Amino acid sequence: MPNQQIRLDVNLAITSDPEINHLMHVSLLDEYQKQISVYHSEIEAEKKARKIRFQELPLQDLSKLKAFKKEVEGKFDTLVVLGIGGSALGNIALASALLHSYQQIANKKGMRLFVTDNVDPDWFLDLFDVINPDKTLFNVISKSGGTAETMSQFLYVWELLVAKYGDKAKDHMVATTDEKSGYLLDIANELGLRKFVVPEGVGGRFSVLSDVGLLSSILIGIDVDELLAGAAAMEKRCQTDELLKNPAYLNALIHYFYDVQLGKSISVMMPYSSTLKYLADWYAQLWGESLGKRYDLKGREVFVGQTPVKAVGPTDQHSQVQLYCEGPNDKIFTLVEVEKNHRDISFKNPFKGNEGTDYLDKRSMNELIRAELKGTSIALADAERPVVNVIFPEVNAFTVGQFIMMYELQTAMAGKLYQINPYDQPGVEAGKKATFALMGRPGFEGEKKRIETSYTFDYRFII
Ligand code: PA5
Repeated sequence: MPNQQIRLDVNLAITSDPEINHLMHVSLLDEYQKQISVYHSEIEAEKKARKIRFQELPLQDLSKLKAFKKEVEGKFDTLVVLGIGGSALGNIALASALLHSYQQIANKKGMRLFVTDNVDPDWFLDLFDVINPDKTLFNVISKSGGTAETMSQFLYVWELLVAKYGDKAKDHMVATTDEKSGYLLDIANELGLRKFVVPEGVGGRFSVLSDVGLLSSILIGIDVDELLAGAAAMEKRCQTDELLKNPAYLNALIHYFYDVQLGKSISVMMPYSSTLKYLADWYAQLWGESLGKRYDLKGREVFVGQTPVKAVGPTDQHSQVQLYCEGPNDKIFTLVEVEKNHRDISFKNPFKGNEGTDYLDKRSMNELIRAELKGTSIALADAERPVVNVIFPEVNAFTVGQFIMMYELQTAMAGKLYQINPYDQPGVEAGKKATFALMGRPGFEGEKKRIETSYTFDYRFII
């Protein structure tokens, strides 16, 4: 499917003009190539040793998921995912990109999907006003099996299901977690829940192409074969270390270079598409949590990472672009373009002679949104801000699969460039630990004491 290949256009981020010094010079690609080749070999070695396994996911066997779909088809009209972070964002992004924009009321391809990735009780409980538990399947997803948000939601739902269905409660709940250990695994085993797996060697934010994202995808009617085929195609495309042939490595280098050499510590991803806006959310977690690190691989304090910001075009042209063009020049922009929409509108102008509408006559909405993207790219380039474009020929499972794999590989390479571990998240763990202590969880008494002595609040400063 060559015409379905997503493309990376870096013309507004790289220059061959020696007079221009606000852009990355093309000669730097040659300078970095040797280093990239070394890092590529390291990434390949980690993949071969099966230490890091997200690259294997496109080739997985889907028969278990397909059989489960058949088993539950017709029984449920709603799927609720209880999960957070890497156990939620991919599910939201896929549903938003690949189903009807209002899938919760208009999905004809499968179940409708809700993802409860927060513990705001008002918001969480409102869900139960719009779903019918008789027709709802819940999927509790947690790799660690101990995340407070997810486990607390699980407790509520499980109690509700037991009260309603007694012994049959487990027909309404499945668990997706680590294969070998964890509190959720213990509970799932005890209750005899149907289990799905977050594979070993695949971290939360790299897990969308495992059962974490695929179970919901298959149940809500996404073509998972195409999704994985797209990811496989990108994985294959990125097996070369040549920068100008490998979009993941090229984009990793560009982002790294702009951050460390030209002070672009913020990476804005701005899809010109409402359906892709949650892919930008997914990217924000992947980029932020993977690269934002205090220590490098040698244990030195480095405090690195680029702050990801998500925006939507053209919506945020009327909110953020003023700042982006004229505010601090500390950002690199990724504008995501959709060349061909599934549906389009051709405008007819009955108000001839009206300058405000004449130029729209016989033009399409797709033309307008793409002109707006180009207009913003030009405005940013004029203001000396680097822009890369990611171009979707159209949005489908195959192209979205490519996008996901490209950004996962890009993150792996960026980890090498920053010389940090992109697969851990000690900062997140620190917050989890403090929450457990504040909630009085046994084993966290020391942490509670530390918090109480380190943080004495002065009520004069709460006004
Ligand atoms: O990427 C990660 O590892 C995290 O964002 C996790 O996905 C998130 O903290 C949820 O963790 P868990 O799946 O263990 O409940």
